[in-house]
Amino acid sequence: MRLNTLPVFVFTFLLTMFAAGCGGPSAGDPENGARIYRRLRCAACHENRTAGSTVPDLSGFTLSFRRFRAILRKPSGAAMPAYGPERVADKEAADLHAWLRDRRRDP
Ligand code: HEC
Repeated sequence: MRLNTLPVFVFTFLLTMFAAGCGGPSAGDPENGARIYRRLRCAACHENRTAGSTVPDLSGFTLSFRRFRAILRKPSGAAMPAYGPERVADKEAADLHAWLRDRRRDP
């Protein structure tokens, strides 16, 4: 049995190009970020701030991704739970970051 190598080569080439395109540097996806924000109940603290609350208002969010991820992994105080990579993967953190950067203030 003789394998015709040309189609195999072309197929492998296209597959490689396709995979490279998908695995490229990914900016966060704000829509998915909004879902994660709801799923993890970030809003329970960050959107229900009462007078005198120590929870920061995230509506004017401008943190860099690196800074944001560092806070997520290890918040400065004990009031906010830490979200390790087992709870929020780096990709999900990027999505959350994109959502916080993009969104308008919630009504
Ligand atoms: C139990 C309440 C609570 C929950 C839930 C919570 N946070 Fe926080 N967050 C805080 C408090 C309080 C701070 C202030 C720093 C501290 O005490 O750790 C904070 C700080 C932050 C900051 C830093 C803001 C700044 O300008 O310095 C970011 C960003 C943030 N939270 C995002 C999130 C995200 C995203 C989620 C969901 C994955 C979340 N928080 C869930 C209470 C909470």
